[in-house]
Amino acid sequence: MSSPTFADRLNAVAADTEALLGRLLGDAPLPGETVRPQRLTAAMRHAALGGGKRLRPFLVVESAALFDAPRDGALLAGAALELLHCYSLVHDDLPAMDNDDLRRGRPTVHKAFDEATAILAGDALLTQAFDILARDEVHGDAKVRIALVRELARAAGLGGMAGGQMLDLAAEGRFSAKRALSEAEIVTLQAMKTGALLRFACRAGALLGSADANAAAAIARYGAAIGEAFQIADDLLDVEGDTAILGKAAGKDASAGKATLVAALGVTGARRKLDRLIAEADDALAPFGAKADTLRAAARFIAERQN
Ligand code: IPE
Ligand code: IPE
Ligand code: MG
Ligand code: MG
Ligand code: MG
Repeated sequence: MSSPTFADRLNAVAADTEALLGRLLGDAPLPGETVRPQRLTAAMRHAALGGGKRLRPFLVVESAALFDAPRDGALLAGAALELLHCYSLVHDDLPAMDNDDLRRGRPTVHKAFDEATAILAGDALLTQAFDILARDEVHGDAKVRIALVRELARAAGLGGMAGGQMLDLAAEGRFSAKRALSEAEIVTLQAMKTGALLRFACRAGALLGSADANAAAAIARYGAAIGEAFQIADDLLDVEGDTAILGKAAGKDASAGKATLVAALGVTGARRKLDRLIAEADDALAPFGAKADTLRAAARFIAERQN
């Protein structure tokens, strides 16, 4: 039998994550809960199920595998991260943020439901991520679980994703006169709004597998490179991609005045930077040899994906 391809491995994690999220977002109250309001559960399921590449869970599982950590705990940590990512998408799409009607080929949550429900679904997805990450099944050592919780909080919060979203909206000129950001400022903004969660995915694998300091530094370097690459690829797809394949509206960043490297460097310059980052990601994985081939393929996938 031939060994599984990259697509097989990604699909396997996506299917396992879908099943796990389906169970986690059930209607039955958990201990300590009274009722789970049906409309809110439905909105959370709309946000989290039936779509998405599941790249963040995949990176958790594959970086954990690099350090021989058990797959089940990594899948659960990956599911927690995916819930948090789905929350970020629900809020990113709100009328007050990017004002998008289409996500993963379906109406955004505020379109399928309403704005208040979308805000609350985001809140509940965000908090549920930490409920799941703190569970014993993630890792037997409570110190590891606390480290995961703290690092995800940092990646998602003021100095991470939420902070990056603030800088992204500010760069549109919403709060004061618009000024062009430097390349370095755009890199910082994107490392926060998008890179932080992708870096966390790789970092989670290192924590779950008790990686030594050198290995943890190498995987952190990989995570930083793909984190930066991911948003450049997203911004290129906004210009060059097709709404039907993307499952979200293309061609919006320029009219919104978004600060992107495509705007700053042009399509060719941004593509060149993306290629450099993929080479950097590859280089960071050198100490792991062939064992890191799937992560190498993940970096190429980030650069070449069509959605
Ligand atoms: C989209 O992320 C949001 C960004 C950070 C650019 P993904 O492209 O991973 O979205 P899904 O999860 O596959 O829908
Ligand atoms: C989103 O960046 C980053 C998030 C934190 C959700 P974008 O606004 O470019 O993502 P899309 O293009 O809507 O998926
Ligand atoms: Mg946005
Ligand atoms: Mg958006
Ligand atoms: Mg985008």
